[in-house]
Amino acid sequence: MAGEGKGERVGAESRPVTGGPGRALVTGAAGFIGSHLCQRLLREGYALVGIDAFTDYYPRRVKEANLAGLAGDPRFTFREGDLLTADLPALLDGATVVFHQAAQPGVRGSWGAQFRAYVDNNILATQRLLEASRDLPTLRRFVFASSSSVYGNTPTLPLREDARPEPYSPYGVTKLAGESLALLYGTNYGVPVVALRYFTVYGPRQRPDMAFHRFCVALLRDEEVSLYGDGHQTRDFTFVGDVVEANLLALGVGAVGQVFNIGGGARVPLREALAILEQAAGRAARIRHREAARGDVRHTYADTDRARQVLGYKPQVALADGLREELAWVADALAAGLLPP
Ligand code: NAD
Ligand code: UGA
Repeated sequence: MAGEGKGERVGAESRPVTGGPGRALVTGAAGFIGSHLCQRLLREGYALVGIDAFTDYYPRRVKEANLAGLAGDPRFTFREGDLLTADLPALLDGATVVFHQAAQPGVRGSWGAQFRAYVDNNILATQRLLEASRDLPTLRRFVFASSSSVYGNTPTLPLREDARPEPYSPYGVTKLAGESLALLYGTNYGVPVVALRYFTVYGPRQRPDMAFHRFCVALLRDEEVSLYGDGHQTRDFTFVGDVVEANLLALGVGAVGQVFNIGGGARVPLREALAILEQAAGRAARIRHREAARGDVRHTYADTDRARQVLGYKPQVALADGLREELAWVADALAAGLLPP
């Protein structure tokens, strides 16, 4: 019955997830961010179940390689499965924390027929996971991976969490819907939800559709770099290790029911980031200018005051250092034949 169980988990919002590492479920465990998060949670002593559907947005072998560092750890169980159809109560059994990272990502691909995959994986899958989580007595935290794309193309910077969300891409609409669903399962059923709005995440294992990954491949192979628009668009690029840390901090006191920006701490023009990569690669990019992509916002810049004050979040990795790490990873992946020719 609607409303039944409201307030069941009274007090959960003020409780940190204490008492030692618990049992976590990580969705999207084979993905870029999910796989880094799993590694860190194992280091922190958690027992983990990871689920991933190996959606075909990028090659399965890349995702399998993401999981390679986790295989063999007896505290890690991997389940290949789709959140839309999986036996979620079995998966969630005994879970103290859910880190919901699974999604259909990518701003520019969310138009046209592909939109269905965004609705399925970002809205329907999230709603199904929340339904299965809502009466779970062991659950102490449900961390939702949200996105800066919920804000849209606003001229008002830095972006604050209380700004009116006005997504500019179909992807952003589905992430906002997922975030809203998560928050309303919090207010209606007491699911202890925290939403983290990540800003353009980069680093080793970055998805192959993303700018830095593509720039690294092009520089290392001496191919043309595709630059959308004039290159003066800015992003608050965030290193993946900082995003992982934010997920851990989201388990702290006072976070429940809130939305937090998770940014890298600086706003950098794309062309400037490319220049850093050129220097690291020791080669000038051969730039091919392309039309600005539909759905791409002009600027992002996170106001992280709330994350700092409530979570104690402070990004640690400067762009030049993080980019060097990503370049080295791409070089290794190319040498190992992992990335498509
Ligand atoms: P990713 O594609 O590398 O990882 C997502 C994983 O989820 C994939 O491995 C995919 O197979 C899996 N998945 C998708 N739908 C599923 C389903 N129905 N059932 C089970 N598994 C499913 O993407 P990522 O860049 O690691 O993004 C992780 C999360 O962070 C996403 O929620 C994304 O929207 C969010 N996010 C990412 C960024 C970024 O810059 N990478 C920025 C903001 C928000
Ligand atoms: C990224 C992620 O891809 C989204 O999943 C995520 O939700 C979003 O961040 C977010 O912050 O919420 P985006 O900022 O578009 O989206 O990240 P990139 O794909 O790295 O693109 C950055 C900029 O580089 C964009 O302006 C894009 O147009 C440009 N770009 C991208 C190029 O110029 N060339 C390319 O080959 C790829």
